[in-house]
Amino acid sequence: MKKLKISPSILSADFGILNEEIATIEPYADYLHIDVMDGHFVPNITFGAPVIRCIKTCLPLDIHLMIEHPERYIEDFVSAALVAGSPKGEMIITVQAEACVHLDRVIHQIKEAGAKASVALNPASPLEMIEYVLYDLDQVLLMTVNPGFCGQKFIENVVPKIKKLRKMAPELDIEVDGGINDKTVQMVVDAGANVLVAGSYVFGAGDRVMAIKSLRVA
Ligand code: DX5
Ligand code: ZN
Repeated sequence: MKKLKISPSILSADFGILNEEIATIEPYADYLHIDVMDGHFVPNITFGAPVIRCIKTCLPLDIHLMIEHPERYIEDFVSAALVAGSPKGEMIITVQAEACVHLDRVIHQIKEAGAKASVALNPASPLEMIEYVLYDLDQVLLMTVNPGFCGQKFIENVVPKIKKLRKMAPELDIEVDGGINDKTVQMVVDAGANVLVAGSYVFGAGDRVMAIKSLRVA
């Protein structure tokens, strides 16, 4: 069983006091999930590298790029994460497979820039999209909602995809993102996920520490 890691998503935090918000969860989390949206790949717009540079945390940043042409911005996000995140320089950059015509090239670009490389698949996208790059990846993110917004309902149809991927890659970090809470967590962990993103469940909780602890089911 791979070590369970919790990656709270700042999308549900108060951006006006972002660093104070991060401080409330920092000692209890493993990564900090950063959702970058461009209003093209997904209908919503969030923020870019200049805002990430203002973050102060010792957690490794887990940057989820829901943007078209991510290859244009990889080095910019890596340099922002070096300023903002873990002093050891650990970070993960995730690109959406659906946004990459030259996925193999982008994966190598991320690694050469000094980050761990991760690819996300939307709920309807098959594992075949990453079959021939799988062994170059440090992580695969399986979306359990359609990307774009926090607070959406978990899509249960993704569970067999998590199981299938875990069989294909026993040592891989498998991240799930969307609708993860105390009701859905057991299902995804039993299926083989070991990196859990949670936005509204953690930042919307009265007791954020208890919320994170309730996700550590394995
Ligand atoms: C959705 C984002 C998620 C989002 C999850 O497009 O990728 O990371 O913050 O939010 P919850 O946990 O509320 O579903
Ligand atoms: Zn995300």
